Amino acid sequence: MGAAERRWSRRERALLWGVLISALDAAWGQLRYSVPEELPKGSFVGDVAKDLGLELPALRDHGVRVVSEGRTQYFALHGKTGHLVTAERMDREQLCESVRQCVLRCEVILDGKMQVYGVEVEITDINDNAPKFEEMELEERMSESTAPGSRFPLAEAHDPDLGPNSLQYYELSGDEHFSLAVQAGPDGDQRPELVLAKALDREKAAFHELVLTASDGGDPARTGTARIRVAVLDANDNAPVFSQEEYTVHVPEDVVVGSVLVIVTASDADEGPNGHVKYSLKKITAKASRILELDPETGALTLVRPLDFEEGDSYELQVQARDGGELFDTAKIVITVTDVNDNSPEISVRSALTEILEDAQPGTVVALLHVQDRDSGANGQVRCSLDEGVPFRLRSSQGSYYSVVTAGELDREKVSEYNVTVRAVDSGSPTLQSSALLALRVLDVNDNAPVFTEARYGARLAENNAAGALVLTVRASDADWGQNARVRYRLSEGRVRGAPVSSYVSVQAETGALYALRSFDYEEVREVRLWVWAEDGGAPALSSNVSVLLEIVDENDNAPQQPQPNTDWRFSQTQRPGTSGSQNGEEGGAWPNNQFDTEVLQAMILASANEAADGNSTLGGGTGTMGLSARYGPQFTLQHVPDYRQNVYIPGSTATLTNAAGKRDAKNAGASGGNKKKSGKKEKK
Ligand SMILES: *[C@@H]1O[C@H](CO)[C@@H](O)[C@H](O)[C@H]1NC(C)=O
Ligand SMILES: *[C@@H]1O[C@H](CO)[C@@H](O)[C@H](O)[C@H]1NC(C)=O
Repeated sequence: MGAAERRWSRRERALLWGVLISALDAAWGQLRYSVPEELPKGSFVGDVAKDLGLELPALRDHGVRVVSEGRTQYFALHGKTGHLVTAERMDREQLCESVRQCVLRCEVILDGKMQVYGVEVEITDINDNAPKFEEMELEERMSESTAPGSRFPLAEAHDPDLGPNSLQYYELSGDEHFSLAVQAGPDGDQRPELVLAKALDREKAAFHELVLTASDGGDPARTGTARIRVAVLDANDNAPVFSQEEYTVHVPEDVVVGSVLVIVTASDADEGPNGHVKYSLKKITAKASRILELDPETGALTLVRPLDFEEGDSYELQVQARDGGELFDTAKIVITVTDVNDNSPEISVRSALTEILEDAQPGTVVALLHVQDRDSGANGQVRCSLDEGVPFRLRSSQGSYYSVVTAGELDREKVSEYNVTVRAVDSGSPTLQSSALLALRVLDVNDNAPVFTEARYGARLAENNAAGALVLTVRASDADWGQNARVRYRLSEGRVRGAPVSSYVSVQAETGALYALRSFDYEEVREVRLWVWAEDGGAPALSSNVSVLLEIVDENDNAPQQPQPNTDWRFSQTQRPGTSGSQNGEEGGAWPNNQFDTEVLQAMILASANEAADGNSTLGGGTGTMGLSARYGPQFTLQHVPDYRQNVYIPGSTATLTNAAGKRDAKNAGASGGNKKKSGKKEKK
């Protein structure tokens, strides 16, 4: 038959198949077997012989064949057993793909009997496939700001097996942030979705590793997995946070400019610009902004101008840290400036006397001072003092005011001016000090009376003296100043032999020079006792008196002799009336008044004015006038010259003129006016 078949043309064969199919129509489906896929070659499918009711030998005899549809012969007939067996390993998924019922057909042909039996073999599924993901690694990117509940489709897994052997369910393992939801697709497939169960926080976990497992329903079940890596994208969900809520800084006020006082830091957990922090100062006073600068990048607060505790002892600033996403944090910076002893005490003289009367009461305020130190604490505590040994002291009055007061009586005559140094020292370490000078002049008060240089004065005057002769000079000094010290002399009222004293002598007010106003006659007046007052120019004036005793000395009676105009006149120094032996009555030279001419007098005066160093000089003659005071000054007045028989005392000078020759002459000549008296005197002797 085989040979015959081979002889048939293609067309005949087709025709034959058509006849056969129609003839054997009923035979199709008669045999139906079911075998699981993936059986090894030669596995039993069905007992064809038995099922067809054919004896095994008969089958052999009839030349039985099994022909599969298609090219691949999947089945064969086992010659000895008559069993239909697999001729190939069959993979249902390959043969039928997704067809639910995978049926392979073949024919059992009995060539000898011209019989064809159709056999259907259903290839049943076994769980030979695991669910499989196209990609084993899945990457998801998710913003950390994603709202919980959001869903993200995941890639599906595929399992070509059928029914329970196919993909049954998904499972997700990983962490609590994610859960799995499975949606049913339109064709009943399962679509896994990743659900955000809990808010993400990139700053805690930037990645989440999940495992998605797809399982089928086989026994044992097979699974396929995909790793899911969820990258969390940063959202600006973190504000910067300062490391401290308050930064406290203590700095001494003399900290150098350029010093960094504090570095503030704020951290921001975000990434990139969201985490980039910039610093700035807020709520800063104008004063603070002048001296402080904040670096926006580093947060370093730098001193750009000197601090001054006295201008500001603390600064409170607000500092802000702001990220690129406009989230910010604020903190406080409190700078406490500590005092350094950088200020000296300042003494300001609010008011001061430059002069004070010497009779000022103790406690008189001479200056009002204000003392302050701009430092604080001990640095600003000031002690004030004055020089030692001055009659002043400090009196503290209300706080930082001091007054300088007199501490005792002043005496211009001892100290006429003071330079009082006021010192102020603070208690810093080291201390600083300053001083102020008060210059004070002590003004005179008329508190000193004139004081005579002698306790009493006495003078001897030869009788017959010239009227106007200088008797002596009293002298008083006054310790005061100016007008208070200007002494004038006067005679005290008094009477001598019934006549006022002033008729005997006069005193020159300025000089204290006492002049005899008359020519005394020893026989009449032997002594004149008087008082001279010295009075100063103060108001009220102070005065004192001194007693003066003028003794009249008896003179020899000698005939007056006319002096020669060109006689040598001797000039001798310091021979006051009554003190020189030459002036006693016997020895003193007397000049005849009527002969004493102006020329001689001028020579005398000239000699006085030119007092020789050796006390002696030779007088020359010469011509002159009587205008002595005009020429030589007021002390050379020729007041009243009644009698020149006496030695001449030159007013204002300590000089006395005597004439060695004249003595003799005077003795010989005798005085014209006094002859009688002299002779009387002689008689007494
Ligand atoms: C006071 O000071 C002035 C100026 O320095 C000086 O001329 C004067 O002599 C001083 N007086 C005294 C008493 O020290
Ligand atoms: C001289 O001074 C004293 C003391 O002041 C006084 O008592 C006396 O009367 C004075 N004498 C004359 C003569 O003024």
